[in-house]
Amino acid sequence: MTAELDGSTALVTGATAGIGRAIALRLAALGASVVVHGRDEQRGASTVEEIAAAGGKARFVAADLSSSEDVLRLAAEAGEVDILINNAGIYRFASTPDTTAEMFDAQMAVNSRAPMLLVGALAPGMAARGRGSIVSVSTAAATTPVRESGAYGASKAALELLTRVWADEFGAQGVRVNAVAPGPVYTPGTEEMGGETLQAIGRTTVLGRVANPEEIAEAVLFLVSSRASYITGAVLEARGGQLAIG
Ligand SMILES: NC(=O)c1ccc[n+]([C@@H]2O[C@H](COP(=O)([O-])OP(=O)(O)OC[C@H]3O[C@@H](n4cnc5c(N)ncnc54)[C@H](OP(=O)(O)O)[C@@H]3O)[C@@H](O)[C@H]2O)c1
Repeated sequence: MTAELDGSTALVTGATAGIGRAIALRLAALGASVVVHGRDEQRGASTVEEIAAAGGKARFVAADLSSSEDVLRLAAEAGEVDILINNAGIYRFASTPDTTAEMFDAQMAVNSRAPMLLVGALAPGMAARGRGSIVSVSTAAATTPVRESGAYGASKAALELLTRVWADEFGAQGVRVNAVAPGPVYTPGTEEMGGETLQAIGRTTVLGRVANPEEIAEAVLFLVSSRASYITGAVLEARGGQLAIG
């Protein structure tokens, strides 16, 4: 029996942890050969090993997405990809007076400039081959004001706008481009916030809880798959619902 993504290659940024790791495991389980990206060699090796142990194909490429040279090297080393998941992201929570230029620039570089450069390098190849799927991981904070998340939300709002631009730019040549906007998710990144803070955010959702990375991966996988064949330029909210006011 052939798996749904047999014969395709996927690049997942930030696949050494959290949501990206869950996405990489699911893509590999569906038959894609996965380029696992991150910075941490050990965590990269662990993701690759887990995929291989389950019978999948993966290799690790390290790159620091805050460096544009490194982003372009990653694209070159990934080679021809059919699926690009722009998942890697950083969040630096601070009020506006406490947000430094360095914090603002760092979030813009990783959360919106790196995806821009990766799409610029990889989408033309997909378009030339007549097929491809790109999914970027945004955040509920891109559309809903979240305290101390102005710069982070702005960097992801840029990513959502770019998603619609890329959908238009490459859609006629068979490339679909979408995004998923998660609410709070248990990951190594959010672990640093402390469990109680994260759970308090979880209680502000209709479902009243924090998500697991696998639940976000499912939303991404749907958009990647042919089941979403008529969906492009969309941002799928996976945020547990928004409580009504009043
Ligand atoms: N967790 C949430 O509650 C939540 C909610 C909404 C949206 N999101 C978004 O979901 C995505 C994944 O979040 P997460 O919580 O799973 O992240 P995480 O646990 O903090 O892991 C971040 C991943 O991104 C990589 N990464 C970070 N900075 C990088 C850089 N400069 N260069 C290369 N790789 C870098 C890390 O790789 P290394 O560690 O190997 O360097 C790691 O694989 C992010 O875009 C985030 O904004 C998360």
